[in-house]
Amino acid sequence: EVMRLARKLVEDGLLEHNEYVELLADRDDEVREYLRSTAQGIAVSNYGHDIFLRGLIEYSNTCKNDCYYCGIRRSNDNVERYRLSLEEILSCCEIGYQIGLRTFVLQGGEDPYFTDDMMCEIISSIKSHYPDCALTLSIGEKGRESYERYFAAGADRYLLRHETADIDHYRRLHPESLSLENRMRCLEVLKDIGFQIGAGFMVGSPGQTYDTMASDFEYLKKLNPHMIGIGPFIHHKDTPFRNEADGTLELTLYCLSMLRIMFPKALLPATTALGTIDKTGREKGVLAGANVIMPSLSPDNARSKYLLYEGKVGVKDKAAEGRQLLDERLAEIGYRTVTTRGDYKGWDRT
Ligand code: 5AD
Repeated sequence: EVMRLARKLVEDGLLEHNEYVELLADRDDEVREYLRSTAQGIAVSNYGHDIFLRGLIEYSNTCKNDCYYCGIRRSNDNVERYRLSLEEILSCCEIGYQIGLRTFVLQGGEDPYFTDDMMCEIISSIKSHYPDCALTLSIGEKGRESYERYFAAGADRYLLRHETADIDHYRRLHPESLSLENRMRCLEVLKDIGFQIGAGFMVGSPGQTYDTMASDFEYLKKLNPHMIGIGPFIHHKDTPFRNEADGTLELTLYCLSMLRIMFPKALLPATTALGTIDKTGREKGVLAGANVIMPSLSPDNARSKYLLYEGKVGVKDKAAEGRQLLDERLAEIGYRTVTTRGDYKGWDRT
């Protein structure tokens, strides 16, 4: 029966709510390998053995939000807060450009210090120095006017994980100041403006069930984003979830394969969190259908302060050595990184 559902997912690209639940709950080795190999085949037929790179610039670890899972939440007093200057951000880009990265991701907490004027200055500076690069923002919930200004300044893409599509589960992960409704509205607005958008969720976050995950798959199908970021939840000692269990490698890989099957052309990262719970997690992610890796370009002293969860890998890596190491590891599984923007297949901004 579970194999029948797996085949149905491959044929139709979607399932009914209760069918997602069953496909998740009743998974076994046979269905796991069937979904994995099918997903890998779909990724290869759309994007070959090429892995796209995104240089992640964690430009501020200051955040006005207090999400229960996140290490840089407002009430964590143990974080040494930092902000990168425009010059520091540009030198991260330069290092990334030298090693062949052609997408930069500006990610930060929701930090009111960076006004829209400042963000637009950062965006247009990066785009004028690196006109052949794509720029992605991952800076949280804003109003339509702000998003329009960032787009006009030259930003191409926007990552905003929905975290969970179940309203009660959303409430369990976030304080009252955040709402699922607004999160979803932001994603619609971003798409409407013309950004390539990314949504996503953590696997194994506290309170998550196969039922809430089924809602995630249904929501994603409706939204049809260009990028989907998923990774295991990993507890952080300075958060209310310090005693909660981490998400597993196995379920994360299973979800990645389901997503690849549902979204053949999507840009699916093998995330840092996946590489953190397992030494070869990112390679396993690629073999399960992922086609994007996001190495950090943040300065050494900032990296150790941008800890959303514990044990984060790459804190000691040097950006320049990063790509070569990555290529060596990917070569072992028959893949390689490429020096291109890595847009959504068929994408054209105009
Ligand atoms: N474990 C795993 N992922 C996390 N994120 C935030 N905190 C954690 C954690 N403890 C993810 C969220 C967010 C993204 C930037 O990082 O999904 O959207």
